[in-house]
Amino acid sequence: TGLPGTNYERTFIAIKPDGTERRLVGEIIGRFEKKGFKLVGIKILHPTPEQAAKHYDDLKSKPFFDGLVKYFSSGAVVCMVWEGKDVVKTGRKLIGETNPALSVPGSIRGDLCIEVGRNIIHGSDSTQSANDEITLWFGETEVTNYESPLEKFIY
Ligand code: PPS
Repeated sequence: TGLPGTNYERTFIAIKPDGTERRLVGEIIGRFEKKGFKLVGIKILHPTPEQAAKHYDDLKSKPFFDGLVKYFSSGAVVCMVWEGKDVVKTGRKLIGETNPALSVPGSIRGDLCIEVGRNIIHGSDSTQSANDEITLWFGETEVTNYESPLEKFIY
């Protein structure tokens, strides 16, 4: 399970401090649920700057890195693992473009935010980074497998 290319592919989704503070948690979870994806891990925490820097490690040479780490560690983040067919790629579609100004209406960023530096949500960009990020934020016993009879209507 968790295997890319199957109905059990997984991605890491984080609602950033502005999304949580703006009470957009239910709205965002609703969009992933209505699409048909399955929530298999969830927790809320206030990341340390060290955790944020580790999460964005591949961006450490970028000019916006310090600001991004400060933003991500500025408040409560809702960390989630979502499961389903093509969830990494389709999850990014639900989220929209990095810059909300380029995100189409109907997408999470296209509908709910304005600034790239306040873009309310993160989603893994590949199955490899999904795996790394899930391992970074969740212990093995914190992600739950369960069968749902509704799946026969989704697949
Ligand atoms: S890049 O340069 O192509 O690697 O960047 P990108 O993949 O588009 O974005 C990587 C993450 O950095 C965030 N980002 C920014 N934050 C603040 N300011 C600016 N200018 C900025 N540009 C990119 C972007 O939201 C991505 O974070 P996540 O959490 O994955 O959305």
